[in-house]
Amino acid sequence: MKNILVTGGAGFIGSNFARYLLNKYDSCRIVVLDKLTYAGNLDNLKDLAGNARFAFVQGDICDAAAVDGAMREHAIDAIVNFAAETHVDRSLIEPGAFITTDVFGTYVLLEAAKRFGVERYLQVSTDEVYGEVAEGSSTEGDHIMPRSPYAASKAGGDLMVRAYFVSFGLPVTITRGSNNYGPFQYPEKFIPLFITNAIDDLPLPVYGDGKQVRDWIYVLDHCEGIDTVLRRGEVGEVYNVGGGNERYNIDVAGKILAYLGKPSSLLQHVTDRPGHDRRYSLNCDKLKGLGWEPRHDFDSAMEETISWYQHNEWWWRKIKSGEFMDYYRRNYAHRSVLSSDA
Ligand code: NAD
Ligand code: DAU
Repeated sequence: MKNILVTGGAGFIGSNFARYLLNKYDSCRIVVLDKLTYAGNLDNLKDLAGNARFAFVQGDICDAAAVDGAMREHAIDAIVNFAAETHVDRSLIEPGAFITTDVFGTYVLLEAAKRFGVERYLQVSTDEVYGEVAEGSSTEGDHIMPRSPYAASKAGGDLMVRAYFVSFGLPVTITRGSNNYGPFQYPEKFIPLFITNAIDDLPLPVYGDGKQVRDWIYVLDHCEGIDTVLRRGEVGEVYNVGGGNERYNIDVAGKILAYLGKPSSLLQHVTDRPGHDRRYSLNCDKLKGLGWEPRHDFDSAMEETISWYQHNEWWWRKIKSGEFMDYYRRNYAHRSVLSSDA
């Protein structure tokens, strides 16, 4: 695999993945295809701009001509699809774009992969397709039971990928990752939102009782898991990629405040997200069987992450002043304050 198309590579995980591959392999070339939606940001790829093994193409994965153009011009051998609408709260407000990109866009990429005869197509999916898990951990053979428009769209994409394997023998794999954290994450997501709000002494809006559980994975551990599956995964198979760090949201929020030396009175319990999944949990034995292990310890990688946002205000301040503020009002203004820890 020499020429890898990374769709959605101007977003959080895709940009970390592009950088990870360029640092790890001397021979590969990375082509990022990204529509640059509100979440896509060329600042995420700024340091790669002069790299001769890197190219950026602005384009929509739903646009077959744009996808074909990138495939042909760059002689693509493999596709890793990160491109998606990704925020659960936005999927509750405007689900249409999720269905378009996460399902139809996946189909357009699969068609291109088939026409161009790629060596591998890897679909980056999520633990959310399993739905909430009261006890135990999800394994790859479990039923998918998505519960939000985001999760249902991602599940639709996964099913289409599987159909192209069964029907056409396309060499596909699917990864299902848990909640990522790290640098360059759009500050609508829980961890960067809470860090940047706390820096500015703004309230941290905790949904409901804050006792929901997420399994946090440092973004580079996720990238390494995806690369392992790309190179060593068996075609037609699904691999879970979790960090093994299940935490209550309220405890993660407390850690952020403690690290920044901010008071717990910034915590504000607000009306819960509708249909909020209480807990996710992944069994990752299958991927561990390929030799992968998450390397980053949660406490120290979280501290590094908080410090990154402290030292990179140039990156997030301009994001939080634009489209973001309109979304913030739409998502938060109607929520009642249930209690504050003041
Ligand atoms: P992100 O929102 O930061 O980035 C998404 C990127 O996709 C953006 O650059 C955006 O411009 C691009 N994009 C959106 N629609 C597009 C389209 N139609 N055509 C081309 N580009 C388009 O997302 P992220 O958090 O980096 O997530 C990347 C992938 O990983 C997604 O598929 C997501 O479902 C999956 N995932 C995310 C997490 C997580 O915790 N963030 C966990 C597991 C899986
Ligand atoms: O599990 C993987 C998924 O993780 C990815 O597939 C998604 O793309 C990604 O957005 C993420 O989904 P979540 O809904 O788990 O992430 P989010 O950052 O939105 O929220 C994490 C938890 O924090 C969740 O239980 C909701 C809660 N939360 C979130 C926000 C934004 C709050 O309590 N307050 C908030 O303001």
